[in-house]
Amino acid sequence: MEFTTLGRTGLRVSVVGMGCGGASRLGQTYGNSEAESVAVVRRAMELGINYIDTAEAYHTEEIVGKAIAGVPRDQIVLSTKKAPYKNDVPVSASELIAGCEASLRRLGIDYVDVYHIHGPKQDQIQHVLDELVPALQTLKEQGKIRATGISENFSTDTEHSVLLELFQADVWDVAMIGYNILNQTANRTIFPITQARKIGTECMFAVRKAFSRPDHLRAVLADLLEKGEIPADEIDLDDPLGFVLAESDARDLTEAAYRFCRHEPGLDTVLMGTGNIHHLETNVRSLLCPPLPAPVTERLQRIFAHAISASGS
Ligand SMILES: NC(=O)c1ccc[n+]([C@@H]2O[C@H](COP(=O)([O-])OP(=O)(O)OC[C@H]3O[C@@H](n4cnc5c(N)ncnc54)[C@H](OP(=O)(O)O)[C@@H]3O)[C@@H](O)[C@H]2O)c1
Repeated sequence: MEFTTLGRTGLRVSVVGMGCGGASRLGQTYGNSEAESVAVVRRAMELGINYIDTAEAYHTEEIVGKAIAGVPRDQIVLSTKKAPYKNDVPVSASELIAGCEASLRRLGIDYVDVYHIHGPKQDQIQHVLDELVPALQTLKEQGKIRATGISENFSTDTEHSVLLELFQADVWDVAMIGYNILNQTANRTIFPITQARKIGTECMFAVRKAFSRPDHLRAVLADLLEKGEIPADEIDLDDPLGFVLAESDARDLTEAAYRFCRHEPGLDTVLMGTGNIHHLETNVRSLLCPPLPAPVTERLQRIFAHAISASGS
């Protein structure tokens, strides 16, 4: 495994992070038993992954707690999250603090490394800044969290407008950002800020449906073509992005998609979500491969330079 520093937190994290949410939620979405999901997290740690991301909303915190039981606390870096609203009602500062304490109990630990506000919407920004940011500071002072984090709703906010507004306050240590081959907008708007402020960056959405289901990729590309966001002469819908495999050693587009994100200089760690041990092992191998050849990366950057509306979901 390779390790990097998660921005100004100083935390040393694996360049591959275990995502315990997304469509799979460690396979809980499609019927994995609890033991099978625990085994996925344990295998991730055996492969050298020390960064594990979960959230109250994923209902995987207890699974992570079981997987890490007995592991020395300083060998893992744990991230979890709480949404700023519940059933359209704002979460108060004291509810956020109580929510963090409940997460700690489910995880079986006494502090969490990164505590994120989970995907606020546009009309929730002011509440986050006025009510929840001070509560995060309290949690830090109490030693219950080490770093503050913010994650975005990338499926609906493909141009990071909420994150950009939240960045007006320099209060975030870590940000979880949507980024993939199909949507590289963070490169132009988010990474200059995160790099200047040394905000740690976690990539989400590297693969999603678009790079795990060929039919879905075809549909997303057709939509981008129709909107005029990508050049028609570069896309063959009968062989979507075929040049990537023809001109690189990537075994498939899933591997290429993870490698593309892994070697983006604006990103510290790439979260990878799965409930399947074979996928986990394959993905770790992919993410530790060298960058795609420069001409392939540059062509992908050119083709998607004006693509702003896809998330890959
Ligand atoms: N707003 C937020 O805070 C937010 C939103 C989304 C995600 N996240 C975090 O980011 C993490 C990563 O996002 P994600 O889970 O959507 O990640 P992802 O790694 O981009 O995509 C995961 C999807 O791809 C499939 N997959 C993975 N490896 C595969 C392979 N080798 N072959 C075929 N299919 C494969 C998975 O299904 P299988 O289970 O079948 O492998 C799953 O459906 C999440 O787990 C979560 O921790 C946060």
